[in-house]
Amino acid sequence: MSVKFQTVPLIESGLNKVHFLTNICNQLNIKRPIIITDEGLYNLGFVEKIEKILKKKNISSCVYKKVLADPPENNIFEAVNLYKSFNADGVIGLGGGSPMDVAKAVSYFSINSIEIEKCYGVNKLKNKRAPLIQIPTTAGTGSEVTPIAIFTLINQQKMGIVDPILYADCAILDAEFTLDLPKTITAYSGIDAMVHAIEAYTTKLKKNPISDALAKKALKLLGSNIRTAVEKPLNKEAREKMLLGSMLAGMAFANAPCAAVHALAYPIGAKFHVPHGLSNSLVLPEVLKFNSINVESLYCEIAADCLPDLIGEKINIDKFILGIEKLINDLQIPKKLRDVGIDQNDISILAKDALKQERLLINNPREVKLNDAISIYEASL
Ligand SMILES: NC(=O)c1ccc[n+]([C@@H]2O[C@H](COP(=O)([O-])OP(=O)(O)OC[C@H]3O[C@@H](n4cnc5c(N)ncnc54)[C@H](O)[C@@H]3O)[C@@H](O)[C@H]2O)c1
Ligand SMILES: [Fe+2]
Repeated sequence: MSVKFQTVPLIESGLNKVHFLTNICNQLNIKRPIIITDEGLYNLGFVEKIEKILKKKNISSCVYKKVLADPPENNIFEAVNLYKSFNADGVIGLGGGSPMDVAKAVSYFSINSIEIEKCYGVNKLKNKRAPLIQIPTTAGTGSEVTPIAIFTLINQQKMGIVDPILYADCAILDAEFTLDLPKTITAYSGIDAMVHAIEAYTTKLKKNPISDALAKKALKLLGSNIRTAVEKPLNKEAREKMLLGSMLAGMAFANAPCAAVHALAYPIGAKFHVPHGLSNSLVLPEVLKFNSINVESLYCEIAADCLPDLIGEKINIDKFILGIEKLINDLQIPKKLRDVGIDQNDISILAKDALKQERLLINNPREVKLNDAISIYEASL
């Protein structure tokens, strides 16, 4: 069996690990970093905390805080301008997937002049990037350990730049940053992380023993902590395990890529501004039903990891899918496309857009044709 596996070379995980930041800057020779974040996190005082840590070691920084959720390309170019005018020499991504994805692109485009249109797709980048440290504040996209950056274009399509150059130099996982996450975002981003691991475990082309082990451990951590993290936001143990689980899921799907859940979720996010994890959750049960014809046994293998209530039970596919639906219901996540303002008239365009996500659909364990996408959306209405 031939396996290729890549990930970020240094992971620092644990409460208060953010204090290692200056050491890591030294190792990477970063003396003037740009911090990339969003307004919400800035207002929570996270940037101030980081600036204080940096200042103690005489590292001065600048801040780009205008990243929008499902970021537009414009965020990259504004931040690159700031990087250049500040004479920065490294990038710190602080946030959920949106700031971390912008941080990746800034680390690349700040030292490479190439048109972004030529970079979408897989393995399109050349040369190097500036040093890059990622600090996730959601659990989550796993973006801190993926070589993927997703942007929303003016035509409302979500497009990805996927290239090993975008693996960060270091990811710092400090669950203190996730304690303020509201219940909704905890639930949405937690389901996103579970979907990453489920799709990695059942991916068609690059499934391998390393990503399988990571996906299974990720699902154990996420499945047994997601309810606590939503119900008791200040429970540090649950928050730490969610953050670790989402990172392991990120390592898995970076090497064994996501598939139809993400392909069908992207147009929902791009056209209706539905948060990424919620978009995934809305189509998840119907994609599981669609795929189960081909990967029923794989779903059964991870069922008790996702749903600890099933431990010790005789597993079958119905119990798995019903259990996932119950989890979504218990976490008070909207269940149907209608709940987010989507109706029958929107389905044909959503399905056409989903089919454009070839990068993802080639990994799905069952071929998705236009009619299948329409049926899945209709069943999710
Ligand atoms: N690069 C990848 O591998 C990858 C994988 C999956 C998703 N994504 C992308 O990531 C984006 C979604 O990221 P996300 O779900 O992490 O959300 P996000 O980064 O878009 O943030 C959503 C909201 O949560 C708030 N928030 C974040 N952390 C918080 C905290 N600790 N406390 C309080 N509020 C907090 C933010 O301020 C923002 O308002 C999408 O653009 C998606 O396409 C990327
Ligand atoms: Fe995702």
